[in-house]
Amino acid sequence: MKTDVIVAEHIKHTYDGKKYVLDDLTFNIKKGEVFGLLGRNGAGKTTTIKILTTLILPSEGNVNILGYDIRKDGLEIRKRIGLVQQLPSIEFTSVEKNLDIYGMLWGLSKKERKEKIEELLKIFDLEDVRKKNAIDLSGGERRRLQIAREFMHNMDILFLDEPTVGLDVVMRRNLLNYIKKLVNKGLTIVFTTHLLEEAEYLCDRITVIDKGKIVAIDTLENLKAKYGGKRTVEFRIKNIDLSKLANMININSNDIKINDDRLIILTENPYDIIEAVIEAVKKVNGKIEWLNIRDKTLEDVFLNVIGEENDIS
Ligand SMILES: Nc1ncnc2c1ncn2[C@@H]1O[C@H](COP(=O)(O)OP(=O)(O)OP(=O)(O)O)[C@@H](O)[C@H]1O
Ligand SMILES: [Mg+2]
Repeated sequence: MKTDVIVAEHIKHTYDGKKYVLDDLTFNIKKGEVFGLLGRNGAGKTTTIKILTTLILPSEGNVNILGYDIRKDGLEIRKRIGLVQQLPSIEFTSVEKNLDIYGMLWGLSKKERKEKIEELLKIFDLEDVRKKNAIDLSGGERRRLQIAREFMHNMDILFLDEPTVGLDVVMRRNLLNYIKKLVNKGLTIVFTTHLLEEAEYLCDRITVIDKGKIVAIDTLENLKAKYGGKRTVEFRIKNIDLSKLANMININSNDIKINDDRLIILTENPYDIIEAVIEAVKKVNGKIEWLNIRDKTLEDVFLNVIGEENDIS
């Protein structure tokens, strides 16, 4: 059994003494796990990260990080974790110097800092701007520097609050791959994102927070099975009255949509539907030009869990 590196019990938080923005969160995170926090704007993701990283104390509840209590051992915890915050903050000196300062803060020797800086400039594609003042960097470069400097020290848990915002596609993939490599070496990751494909790519377990409450917490596979709902089967059929065709198929009219020459059907049994449509099309001497079954995605799960309409168009 892997050990729990984070144990959060009944966290409640209010900023104004009236409204609870976190309302009784309980969860455990294991060593080496990639734990994704998902939820709409204002759901409470950043507040959760701030509590787990000891930036703020929760109004109620207990949190234990790597065996330390957030209320008593903030300093010990901060030595062992890394944090990339949602809002960038940066020292206004050269890129190299920024990294060097961080290395010093973490007590690295000059030699260690030099090696680490070279490695990180390469990984985060900052070699060309190494002498530039951070104030003159583009938004994406600044974000890369902000993430790179966190890796100046070794840590047990890394917290990332929407790390890929502002990064281009190539850099985003580089970062995700770099994170994956570190996870294979035992690093635990807690991160938030609005990019569901990113969560799919990285996360072992996903937590969906809505209005300060956990509404789902599970592996992606289990969430898809539980909340993924129906799958979409789409047919392209030319020169046939599709509403007539739809009437020939035994399915709830709410689950059928017609869009020009496309017949879109929501179903739990796509293969039965395909058979029925083929039969019906045969009867009217038509031809299916093309068909597509869309698998459940994390987006389907997300919309189902937070109770939004799942539009099939
Ligand atoms: N410093 C603060 N003072 C007062 N209210 C705050 C403060 N920070 C956050 N809030 C409120 O707490 C709630 C949760 O905010 P939080 O930043 O945790 O959301 P989030 O899930 O990270 O959202 P986003 O996806 O937009 O980053 C929101 O209603 C927000 O307005
Ligand atoms: Mg946030």
